[in-house]
Amino acid sequence: MRHLMSPLDFTVEELDQLLDLANDIEKNPAKYAHACEGKKLATLFYEPSTRTRLSHEAAMLNLGGNVLGFSSADSSSAAKGETVSDTIRMISCYADICAMRHPKEGAPMVACKHSSIPIINAGDGGHQHPTQTLTDLLTIRSLKGRLNNLTIGLCGDLKFGRTVHSLINALVRYTGIRFILISPEELRLPSYIREDVLDRNEVPYQEVVRLEDALPSLDILYMTRVQKERFFNEEDYIRMKDFYILDKKKMELAPEDMYVLHPLPRVNEIAVEVDDDPRAAYFRQAQYGVYVRMALILTLLDIHVD
Ligand code: NCD
Repeated sequence: MRHLMSPLDFTVEELDQLLDLANDIEKNPAKYAHACEGKKLATLFYEPSTRTRLSHEAAMLNLGGNVLGFSSADSSSAAKGETVSDTIRMISCYADICAMRHPKEGAPMVACKHSSIPIINAGDGGHQHPTQTLTDLLTIRSLKGRLNNLTIGLCGDLKFGRTVHSLINALVRYTGIRFILISPEELRLPSYIREDVLDRNEVPYQEVVRLEDALPSLDILYMTRVQKERFFNEEDYIRMKDFYILDKKKMELAPEDMYVLHPLPRVNEIAVEVDDDPRAAYFRQAQYGVYVRMALILTLLDIHVD
């Protein structure tokens, strides 16, 4: 049985197959409409979510399956003190596959150890968010036609942003990848990722504070929100929250073929006026998230559609 804890759980070849499957689903949705009939997906969300939970649910419904779950810790027995390991033992009796989001790093990994069904990590604290990474890879590959030879700007909260951490882990396996890390000093990428992931894989990167300095050389700009819920005090958050605001004026500095991605939700870091720019790809990205999660559910349940 396979789980998805980190994007590295799939080899590059397996990822290619998964993204190919997602592209086929996009082109031929009817072919997959009954693939998961009789199957159930449980969504256990101990932290807020809109896209990740609903796109997993939409994915299962599009495959002809059913969904059940909870969307906050307060509405589950976690509020009574039940452990993740006990909860997952129950859920294994109720569903065929489970997507779990938890504020604690490693909680989905604990769930795997006690589960008899595949577990998808739908975000664990500031650690990883592998299904967002699958979404990002599909979006980049669909828009740019490749996952190698790219200069990728990661901008915003690189310290706490789990989407950035997962995406870096996944992209270092492709050739010709270069990162520009754009953040305030306080929100720099943690050294364990700079050293253990970027340096170890000899991936070139540059750290800059000003977005304007990076924009002209980017193929992809990946914007992120300052992760309010992971700050230790509110003053720091208030000081940081509007550090970057991508607007029309700044977009003039960017190449014509650069795309702007954002895992969403956006707060202030992309002005609404940018939404009409053809390079703004964040809502398309959310759509790709459904196709890739359909492909993931099929893969983890080992269901093949001819
Ligand atoms: C992200 C997350 O939850 O980490 N959201 C998402 O799943 N699309 C990004 C964020 O919350 O900033």
